Amino acid sequence: MRISSQMEKAINDQISYEASAINAYVAMGSWCERAGYEGSAAFFFEQAVEENTHMLKFVHYLNNAGAEAIIPATEKPESKFDSLEAIFQAGLNSEETVTKLINNLVEIAENEKDRATYLFLQWFVSEQVEEEILFQTILQKFDIFGRDKLAIYQIDQSLASIRSQIMAKKQIKNNNLQ
Ligand SMILES: [Fe+2]
Ligand SMILES: [Fe+2]
Repeated sequence: MRISSQMEKAINDQISYEASAINAYVAMGSWCERAGYEGSAAFFFEQAVEENTHMLKFVHYLNNAGAEAIIPATEKPESKFDSLEAIFQAGLNSEETVTKLINNLVEIAENEKDRATYLFLQWFVSEQVEEEILFQTILQKFDIFGRDKLAIYQIDQSLASIRSQIMAKKQIKNNNLQ
């Protein structure tokens, strides 16, 4: 086995968190869809797809390292939200939690001198920077445009372009990492 059992357990915990994030974002998208926030609904469904790619990266990594990826059951995600702003705040909180979890994984890799896993995790370290920027940028829009109905409509409509700008930046970084 290329990785320790402690690392295997920690990555499986991460797989579990990423799986919860998929459902959490689908639930957020679903709330937005019902509320008529089409831009935000598309944003969260897309975000769920991204979390799925994160989960699979960890699954493949474990399976290819002679360990076993455990595909978990997940708890029912939160489905009621007070406002569009509250939903993006919940998204930011979740991403901040993931950042801490990724940093913990990096620490384990450092302590174990597991350089392969350390290197593998670097992609997630920079991904989390982008994920937090994405949600912060959107939340900032509520301060810029305001919180009345027209402002919220404009924010909802601007989400596709905010995402594509940040994705373009991400792409450049990913190319540099490869
Ligand atoms: Fe993720
Ligand atoms: Fe994320």
